[in-house]
Amino acid sequence: MANKIGVAVIHGGRSGEHEVSLQSAASVMEAMDRNKYEVIPIKITKEGEWLLPEPSIPFTFQGIDVVFPVLHGTNGEDGTIQGLLELANIPYVGGGVAASAVGMDKSLMKAVFAYHGLPQANFLTVLRQQWEKNPDTVKGEVAAQMGFPCFVKPANLGSSVGISKVSEPAELGAALDLAASFDRKIIIEEFIAAREIEVAVLGNDSAKASIPGEIKSKKDFYDYEAKYTDGNAQLFIPADIPPDTSEEARRLAVAAYKAIDCAGMARVDFFLTKETGKLLVNEINTIPGFTKFSMYPKLWEATGLSYPKLIDELIELALERHKDKSKSVFGVD
Ligand SMILES: Nc1ncnc2c1ncn2[C@@H]1O[C@H](COP(=O)(O)OP(=O)(O)O)[C@@H](O)[C@H]1O
Ligand SMILES: [Mg+2]
Repeated sequence: MANKIGVAVIHGGRSGEHEVSLQSAASVMEAMDRNKYEVIPIKITKEGEWLLPEPSIPFTFQGIDVVFPVLHGTNGEDGTIQGLLELANIPYVGGGVAASAVGMDKSLMKAVFAYHGLPQANFLTVLRQQWEKNPDTVKGEVAAQMGFPCFVKPANLGSSVGISKVSEPAELGAALDLAASFDRKIIIEEFIAAREIEVAVLGNDSAKASIPGEIKSKKDFYDYEAKYTDGNAQLFIPADIPPDTSEEARRLAVAAYKAIDCAGMARVDFFLTKETGKLLVNEINTIPGFTKFSMYPKLWEATGLSYPKLIDELIELALERHKDKSKSVFGVD
């Protein structure tokens, strides 16, 4: 193991996106150059048990130079594992604690984007407690401020779980109940009739953006089924959009990345409005889908960076970030 870089690929996890993570991690591990890397798979079960590779290594992070968290959603993409790795002083791939947490929480994310002047859909944040105590007031606010159709989402989740498109007032209560069953914060957004454009971002303090791609869903919107059932969604790379729109998407993607102080990687998703051709930032994903068929690596491939080279670069960025952080002192003696 001496000359090789020990890379622990933590995957699975206590998240609704457990299975997606297994697929992403399998692709990542398969593509890693074994002459360069000692691959250490660490699987977290749905129940939260950590399974170490055989022969079992003691859980001291011994022999681990870098961790690649390939965990989507809760307990992985949200800053929790990043916090553990900060405490253990181990370099890791991707955004830090704050970037991960803000990227995961749609209401914090939108507030930060708004502060940075990024264009986005109008939205409203409601606490589960408010919805439970004053349902009529909440319904009235949604109708007055967002109108119909609108989108109702749990603030912290992913893969479209708990998300509803609400076409008329009669459907609103059920949508709010559903979102409230997943999180104590609910986001309600105005409906945007749009194409969905995605851009991959890579880098630390000087990040770069890939060419944009487009997702087309056969369903009414890009819901869970569309995301994970074969044939329900199609990727178009590059997106068939005007050059200036493409440039603008790349600029906004890097701006969104910087706004949450991200590092390593992220995928920034946009709405390209059908009526005006205007780009609105929908969200940032700090641990995007990473299978060979996923948008993030495919966008880099199309931009000239192969899947194995992308992994090399992410590991280098993790080491660079850790080195940079080590330059800071904790306080004065
Ligand atoms: N305001 C909106 N207007 C139109 N469609 C939306 C809106 N918000 C979400 N959607 C649809 O729902 C999908 C999932 O929403 P998103 O906010 O990206 O959640 P997730 O984090 O689960 O991916 C989007 O890809 C899009 O198809
Ligand atoms: Mg999304």
